[in-house]
Amino acid sequence: MANLKTKYMGLELESPVIAASSGLTANVDKVKELEQAGAGAVVLKSLFEEQILYDSNKMTEGYNKEIHADAVDFFNGMSNSYFLDEYLTLVEECKKAVNIPVIASVNCVSNGAWLKYAKRFETVGADALELNAFTIPVNKKLSSEDYEKQYYELAEGIKKALNIPVAMKMSTHFTSLARVLDNLADLGINGLVLFNRFYRPDIDIDSLKMTHAPIFSAAEEMAMSLKWVALLSGELSADIAASTGIYDSKGVIKQLLAGAKAVQLCSTLYKNGTGLIGDINKEVAAWMDDKGFDSITDFNGILCQEESDNPEVYERAQYMKAAVGIS
Ligand SMILES: Cc1cc2nc3c(=O)[nH]c(=O)nc-3n(C[C@H](O)[C@H](O)[C@H](O)COP(=O)(O)O)c2cc1C
Repeated sequence: MANLKTKYMGLELESPVIAASSGLTANVDKVKELEQAGAGAVVLKSLFEEQILYDSNKMTEGYNKEIHADAVDFFNGMSNSYFLDEYLTLVEECKKAVNIPVIASVNCVSNGAWLKYAKRFETVGADALELNAFTIPVNKKLSSEDYEKQYYELAEGIKKALNIPVAMKMSTHFTSLARVLDNLADLGINGLVLFNRFYRPDIDIDSLKMTHAPIFSAAEEMAMSLKWVALLSGELSADIAASTGIYDSKGVIKQLLAGAKAVQLCSTLYKNGTGLIGDINKEVAAWMDDKGFDSITDFNGILCQEESDNPEVYERAQYMKAAVGIS
């Protein structure tokens, strides 16, 4: 039987399938269930800085902040540490409950706050930290360099503060994506998750109100990450975890062939249940047996652009009859 072990950011995984950060990784029982189903690692639900600030602000709503400065400070401190402590307890309990790597996840908007929280994740035993950092580049006064600088400062700060591996969960919204990812890897970021899938607003034309687009991805969405994993996996010093639109064993195999060291699954687990991970592991192993691959390293990255017989295909942007057979 083929061996599914892989190494991602130096972490030894029994399977390349990681349960992505979501409500499915928000408590110990769910994390245990994911381990039993065969997940190689879990990324815990993100701790959101926004949420912490919102709650502390809510507690002090209506207070005159100058007159009641002490009370405001008290509530801010209490609220911040309440959510943080709750999250750190989750990390600690998950570490006690499972043997697979537990990756903590933080969504913060400010560099200072990241650093304040970061060391404590390490102290309570997180195997790695995934930074879910994204600023929508909507401010027309800021240049692409201004936005990129925020990520670099974050990467530098976090790498100075921590000894455990750090991954950054990325968006595609960069003018020169390859360069940004390369710079982050040079700054010591160990893992790059390609790509995050964000909340998408939509418009209801009957009620004339804002609403939201589907929360879950569709399998077709994997094409974007597959392309970039294949383009960059042979070029970057950081390990890549593929994410978005990976639904089944075929998706997992494709991403491994393109050069991802691991894959992250979310929507498919919501739709098909966490037991799907066991089926995927079996199907990937059966495919490897069929192809004569004993381990993942035997085929990992053999179809990335660097290794490909037909590298130009990955850089094709326009449809051409020769490529798609339709005129
Ligand atoms: C309900 C839900 C909650 C999520 N929560 C988080 C989160 O807290 N932190 C995070 O980094 N990503 C979060 N995500 C994004 C997923 O981790 C994943 O990157 C995204 O859904 C794309 O993967 P998929 O196509 O397998 O669903 C969430 C996604 C869903 C659907």
